Amino acid sequence: MTRPKYLERKSVVQLQTDASTGEHLQRALGAIDLVTLGIGCIIGAGIFVLTGTAAAQYAGPAIMLSFVLAGIACGFAGLCYAEFAALLPIAGSAYTYAYATLGEVVAWIIGWDLLLEYALGAATVAVGWSGYMISFLKDVGITLPASLTAAPGTHVVLTDNSTITAVFNLPAFLAIIALTLLLMIGVRESTRFNGIIVAVKLAVIVTFILFGVSHIDPAHWTPFIPPNTGKFGEYGFSGILRGAGVIFFAYIGFDAVSTAAQEAKHPQRDMPIGIIGSLLICTLLYIVVAGVLTGLVSYKALNVADPIAVGVNVIGLKWLAIVVKIGAIFGLSSVMLVLTYGQTRILYTMSRDGLLPPFLSRIHPRFKTPHITTLVLGTCVSLIAGLVPISTLGELVSIGTLFAFIVVCAGVLYLRYTQPSLYRPFRCPLVPFVPVTGIFICLYLVFGLPQETWLRLFVWLIAGLFIYFFYGHSHSVLQQDRR
Ligand code: ALA
Repeated sequence: MTRPKYLERKSVVQLQTDASTGEHLQRALGAIDLVTLGIGCIIGAGIFVLTGTAAAQYAGPAIMLSFVLAGIACGFAGLCYAEFAALLPIAGSAYTYAYATLGEVVAWIIGWDLLLEYALGAATVAVGWSGYMISFLKDVGITLPASLTAAPGTHVVLTDNSTITAVFNLPAFLAIIALTLLLMIGVRESTRFNGIIVAVKLAVIVTFILFGVSHIDPAHWTPFIPPNTGKFGEYGFSGILRGAGVIFFAYIGFDAVSTAAQEAKHPQRDMPIGIIGSLLICTLLYIVVAGVLTGLVSYKALNVADPIAVGVNVIGLKWLAIVVKIGAIFGLSSVMLVLTYGQTRILYTMSRDGLLPPFLSRIHPRFKTPHITTLVLGTCVSLIAGLVPISTLGELVSIGTLFAFIVVCAGVLYLRYTQPSLYRPFRCPLVPFVPVTGIFICLYLVFGLPQETWLRLFVWLIAGLFIYFFYGHSHSVLQQDRR
């Protein structure tokens, strides 16, 4: 039976050959760069903001267990990503893995879906960054015009309690523009900048842990799992599960390491190190930070935009409060940087495959970066960040990511059964247990998200399918090769 054209797959060998022909990205990144890239993308709004909200509303001190649970889900998906990233070290990440296993139309859908994770993720984090920046600037005596501090239509409360309607979120817009310019100049420069930011945010988090530990009052940890209120997700065991769904956002980003595969010096060895290494470091830090935070203050007091700062107030060190704010500003910058970077590399790969117009895979002759994609994407993301109030978009980012994780786990299984003898530089352990469990945990987290979010995902994917059938299908390099 012949396969329908839109289910055509790229062979693994063909993908490996494609990656080494044509215009090239520069191979400049080592194992440490990749781990740093991962941490740069992982630690951000999740730990600086969501930990508090999730502890206060859903899990109480047992938010630590939520972090363990979400960490396990991501660990399983991470092992699958690592197998693929070493086997197919191509910038397209989950999109490319789907192309090799489930066929072109699924690959397109995943590529389209990843826009939710990376581009919307960057815009979401930019809005969070803007909040911290505005607050920090106020601390140092600089007040921005209120109308330029939030999305159009948002009511901003002024110091005299009057309100004003905002027209644009200027700091969020400018943050993405600045990162876009940096990414156009070069990957080496961007990762160097990323390295500095990661060092700062790790230092801030470790400082918080070290100063916080001695102020912990174990009474705050009792009851460790507050009794369920009778509603699913409000404390008790279901609260731990709901909490895991919410703080899942905190782990997003380890997969972005795989988008750097074509710029890694030794991808076969270093991709698994980058993915698993960054995930392990962040999981440990998250559990400890959650433990210290809920030990410093009652979880009930943590439903605020800056929960870590609330914890710092208990420690009583004024300078530490400022340092934490600066850490958050730096921390969120690198998340935006790596998410935007990852998105450009996925679009670059999709364009090389003919599913998007060819100008998106042009490489700048001097900077060796996909400058046009970066500029187009940066402009769109900066406008979204400036114009859209992003409260519900966080959930859309999570569902988009979970969907990609499920496909990657399924892809590993599929390829193990269809091409068992393929040389895999890194093998995900305990197959089929790890990918199958990964799929189930991710599905569970998807079901924990509100139904409107599924609907939005559905509408987004249908829109993507239209584009595929009107453009991608007829321009696909794979289809043209087969004609
Ligand atoms: N994990 C990233 C964050 O928490 C997306 O901001």
